[in-house]
Amino acid sequence: MQGRGTGSVAWAAVARPFYITTPIYYVNDAPHIGHAYTTVNCDAVARWHRLLGDDVFFLTGTDEHGLKIQRAAEAVGLTPLEMADRTSERFVEAWRELDISNDDFIRTSEPRHYTAVQEFLGRIRDNGHIELDSYEGMYCVSCEDYYTEAQAPDGMCPIHHRPLETLAEENYFFRLSRFEQPLLDWYEAHPDFVQPVTKRNEALGFIKQGLQDISITRTSIDWGVPVPWDDRHVFYVWYDALINYATAAGFGTDPERFERLWPVVQHVIGKEIIRFHCVWWPAMLMAAGLEPPKEVHVHGWLLVGGEKMSKTKLNHIAPSELVADFGVDPYRYHFLRDVAFGNDGDFSYEGMVQRYNTDLANNLGNLLSRVATVVGKKSGGVGPAPSPDSPLAAVAAAVYADAADAWERIVPSEALEATWRLIRETNAHLEVNEPWKAEPGPEDDAVLGDALEVLRIVAILASPAMPATAREIWSRIGLPGAPEDQRLPEAAVWGGYPGGLPVEKGDPLFPRMNPS
Ligand code: MSP
Repeated sequence: MQGRGTGSVAWAAVARPFYITTPIYYVNDAPHIGHAYTTVNCDAVARWHRLLGDDVFFLTGTDEHGLKIQRAAEAVGLTPLEMADRTSERFVEAWRELDISNDDFIRTSEPRHYTAVQEFLGRIRDNGHIELDSYEGMYCVSCEDYYTEAQAPDGMCPIHHRPLETLAEENYFFRLSRFEQPLLDWYEAHPDFVQPVTKRNEALGFIKQGLQDISITRTSIDWGVPVPWDDRHVFYVWYDALINYATAAGFGTDPERFERLWPVVQHVIGKEIIRFHCVWWPAMLMAAGLEPPKEVHVHGWLLVGGEKMSKTKLNHIAPSELVADFGVDPYRYHFLRDVAFGNDGDFSYEGMVQRYNTDLANNLGNLLSRVATVVGKKSGGVGPAPSPDSPLAAVAAAVYADAADAWERIVPSEALEATWRLIRETNAHLEVNEPWKAEPGPEDDAVLGDALEVLRIVAILASPAMPATAREIWSRIGLPGAPEDQRLPEAAVWGGYPGGLPVEKGDPLFPRMNPS
């Protein structure tokens, strides 16, 4: 890979920037496992890139303006800002509980965001793409978006299944229609702009249907970023929200930082916000004279009982409810491994127990405990060195290549599937060689050393998904430091476990759970 040195000093000079974002979450709703799904995925990818030595900037935050929040706050007798303060804190706490390593947490009510939005919009206006006009349309407050008759022939929101409201306003409009051809050209020149390809086609479909100008200000509410050239208006929530990604990268405040981060930004989003991120946002950036994001990665929904979680359906599951039963790392592992990026995935408690028992209790937990037990009995608790020509060395190399490729593409389920292949093959290797037999065989030390080396590599490769578990494995096999301080790809090369280290058995990492 370009510019990767072996020494950390040489490395520091050439670290490549890596910028990943979650959507910012609305503050009318408490954090649930759907929000956590996006956040945990981005967190694991950010952790992977830190292992590569990249200069990572991982952003999440809260989306606090708009009619939806204003109404939700009024309903409980709070000001919108009071409501935003409370809910935003709940997101911060939820992410702390899930060991999320975000480098920044942006709130759209912050002054830095107001500065950036006003500067961004000012540029688009100076470039002639914002004009005053009047509009009447059918609006869904939950989506904070207008629908045309073709999109909602029955007057109901196609996502929320609730009646649309008729809104008429004189507003400033962004001339989105002018960007149809530039967007099509951009998609053509950047085939990986939106992933997976099914979602890219969906976004292209929106553009080819024809783009209408968008109303980007409101006079009907005051909970928003003020329009600097007309104090009767505030900016429409989506228009301010998308700019958060630029704000946090230093737009309007730190041009050097912005120039470094912007060309590499990658957004991770759920499928219902494709139009905003893959049509509006690149057009807004073009209108401001900036480049569209590098990539947008779209995932499906996590369904509960076949439906998307939502406040109105009362089918929320808070991450803490599952963490109480499974623990943080198994929680993270489950959603990374079991719900493949791109598709919808139905959450089931039974499925989660099953995955836990198979992958964590049986495969990983068992590998560590059987190796530690035999090393305790046969080698006096001192781990032997691996053999340089172990058959597992080739497996480890192939697994590393597959895992690295999947993390790079932001497909964590495949990266973990690959990593678990190495665990399974190692368990099979132990079963064939039976180092626990009463009669010591000449190969026992090498077999145990090989398994310890696998545990070292697995601790590194699994650390983006299960950071605390990886540290625990690392320390039980006697290694100094921590897996997240290792540098890839060098640290994944076979032979890094030196032997002669104390191996500790300890309690089972993942006690089996009852299926019911
Ligand atoms: N505030 C906007 C995003 C603005 S980004 C500039 C928003 N907020 S949201 O809170 O409704 O959703 C945020 C993200 O959480 C979206 O990507 C959405 O897809 C994701 N999820 C919300 N519920 C979800 C599931 N049930 N399953 C998976 N992801 C879900 O949209």
